[in-house]
Amino acid sequence: MRMALHNAQSTRGAACGGIALFVFITLLFAPSSWGEKLAPEVEFCLTCHGQEALEIVLPSGEKRSLYVDAGRFGRSVHGEKVRCTNCHSDISTYPHPPRTFKNLREFTVAYYESCKGCHFDNYTKTLDSVHYTVLSRGDLKAPLCVDCHGAHYVARPRVPKSSISETCARCHKAIYEQYGQSVHGKALSKDGNNDVPACTDCHRSHNIEDPRTASFHLKSPELCARCHSDEKLMKKYRLSTNVLGTYLTDFHGMTASFYRKEQAAPAALTAVCTDCHGVHDIMAVKDPRSSVMKANLLRVCRKCHPTATENFPSAWLSHYEPSPEKAPLVYYVKLFYKIFIPFVIVGLVLQILLHIWRLVVNR
Ligand code: HEC
Ligand code: HEC
Ligand code: HEC
Ligand code: HEC
Ligand code: HEC
Ligand code: HEC
Ligand code: HEC
Ligand code: HEC
Ligand code: HEC
Repeated sequence: MRMALHNAQSTRGAACGGIALFVFITLLFAPSSWGEKLAPEVEFCLTCHGQEALEIVLPSGEKRSLYVDAGRFGRSVHGEKVRCTNCHSDISTYPHPPRTFKNLREFTVAYYESCKGCHFDNYTKTLDSVHYTVLSRGDLKAPLCVDCHGAHYVARPRVPKSSISETCARCHKAIYEQYGQSVHGKALSKDGNNDVPACTDCHRSHNIEDPRTASFHLKSPELCARCHSDEKLMKKYRLSTNVLGTYLTDFHGMTASFYRKEQAAPAALTAVCTDCHGVHDIMAVKDPRSSVMKANLLRVCRKCHPTATENFPSAWLSHYEPSPEKAPLVYYVKLFYKIFIPFVIVGLVLQILLHIWRLVVNR
């Protein structure tokens, strides 16, 4: 560790003379077209950092380019309002304060806090995320602001919406590929359809929760319901909006609601939407690969009802409301009660009234 530090510093010393010459030449030939849009202070930094060849070699042997593309920086969300020194607040002139990064990742982590000053809200949110939990364990693979947004060429997020999932895909490749085949992912990446969920519609982007907990599992139907009970949205795709309602009145949904209220949450004790439809691999129900396709449905039920027989799924109403065509027996029994119960109540009330009338008349 000491050695590496020492080495880095002595290289720096040796490089100094060369850099002075480099600066002189650079200032002479600095392209003047920068000046039109960028602040003079930014221009100053770019006299050196606008040179494509500028790079350092870290003690790990990795190279790091120190080049910043003036045009791309100018077009980024920060180009007009933010200066180099707003983020690099410890650097205002050259030579810069000495630094000791052993490798590329340490370099990035050292700049982790540079966004905090202006985007405090998002910074605070990230402290509640699974990614931060990973980071605070000392695992530097966890994403920092710049891994998702970049440092110098930050673009508007969500434009286009598919860019969100591509950002997550850098580290969650297997899930991204599975999602890309699903009814949601295919619509987003192939048709540019913004109605379907990207990763962050279900997970959020900064305060990402651990999705494997029982409480996330039990509240997941709300995620789906946000869109699947939206009349206007679902009409476009001729999909039923009754899926949540029928789920909630079904035994599985009732049990899920019960556990949520009790806050005692054994996850495997009931089925939620994703137990039947899948999570990142949800298919259209008519797709032969769909887990809820008739041919595959029994396998799904057997995950939790191991003794289910061939006709077990057909004895269940799925998302249908009972009707004369679907489940006529249930329908007519319900209809019978609908007529019978009011009839009994009205009869009782009438009988009481008649009794009272009788009493009054008898007096
Ligand atoms: C005279 C040329 C020159 C100018 C002007 C210059 N730099 Fe540098 N910069 C360098 C060189 C060379 C390095 C390589 C490491 C070192 O020598 O400190 C570097 C490294 C850096 C680094 C990465 C390493 C570190 O210390 O964090 C940052 C960030 C940086 N410069 C930012 C800036 C900013 C911001 C400005 C404008 C205020 C600026 N530089 C102006 C030459 C320059
Ligand atoms: C919005 C904040 C922000 C602004 C504005 C910004 N930087 Fe940076 N810069 C960073 C961060 C964060 C890193 C670390 C990035 C990484 O490790 O991927 C960085 C890294 C660097 C590096 C190291 C090499 C590299 O490219 O990653 C240099 C050099 C540098 N910046 C120079 C500049 C110069 C010159 C400007 C002005 C034209 C500038 N920066 C403007 C945030 C910023
Ligand atoms: C000096 C203050 C400052 C710093 C530091 C800063 N930003 Fe910004 N950021 C801004 C301003 C100002 C805007 C422009 C807001 C606008 O035009 O909507 C902006 C816009 C953004 C946007 C687009 C917001 C939107 O709603 O479309 C993103 C993403 C972003 N910044 C990320 C970062 C990241 C990542 C860093 C650290 C590498 C960073 N910012 C550092 C001031 C800052
Ligand atoms: C895991 C990837 C990821 C990380 C890490 C991340 N962001 Fe974001 N950020 C996103 C995505 C995706 C969006 C788009 C908004 C959405 O869909 O929720 C976004 C949106 C933003 C916006 C636009 C305004 C808004 O809230 O929608 C700003 C500003 C921003 N991020 C700043 C930051 C800062 C600062 C950090 C570090 C503290 C950071 N982000 C870390 C993925 C990330
Ligand atoms: C720079 C890499 C990186 C990026 C980009 C990234 N993640 Fe992660 N993510 C990780 C690492 C590392 C973990 C810890 C678990 C592991 O090692 O796989 C993790 C964990 C998670 C977890 C918790 C589940 C688990 O396996 O621990 C979720 C959920 C998650 N990420 C969602 C997202 C979403 C959504 C995005 C995009 C907005 C995203 N991630 C972008 C690296 C990344
Ligand atoms: C329609 C909602 C939805 C979308 C879209 C979605 N997820 Fe998930 N994700 C979930 C749910 C629900 C779980 C919990 C699964 C369980 O119960 O095991 C989960 C679990 C995860 C996990 C942790 C468990 C595992 O399987 O490793 C990661 C990581 C993850 N998602 C990343 C992503 C990424 C990356 C994307 C985008 C490509 C994405 N998700 C898109 C709903 C979604
Ligand atoms: C951001 C909104 C949104 C969210 C959140 C969402 N969906 Fe979807 N979903 C859609 C849209 C829009 C379609 C229609 C896509 C198409 O047909 O191109 C769709 C299609 C489907 C289909 C296929 C229907 C068919 O047969 O065509 C199923 C099944 C489905 N979603 C289940 C779910 C489940 C389960 C969840 C929760 C884990 C969920 N969705 C979350 C918007 C959403
Ligand atoms: C116990 C298994 C199971 C659960 C739990 C479940 N579904 Fe379904 N779902 C099915 C089956 C089976 C079908 C196919 C119905 C048919 O067409 O015969 C279906 C069909 C659908 C469709 C297509 C509707 C249409 O109009 O074609 C959507 C959308 C859907 N489900 C969403 C959801 C959502 C959202 C949830 C949670 C609130 C959920 N499902 C819970 C089994 C389930
Ligand atoms: C993730 C596990 C899981 C899956 C998958 C699942 N169930 Fe269930 N189911 C349960 C549990 C646990 C109960 C008992 C508690 C309750 O009522 O929710 C139950 C109860 C039932 C009941 C009420 C009567 C009884 O046996 O207790 C029926 C009927 C039923 N499920 C049908 C189905 C059908 C049909 C499927 C396949 C389409 C299915 N289930 C898939 C977990 C599951």
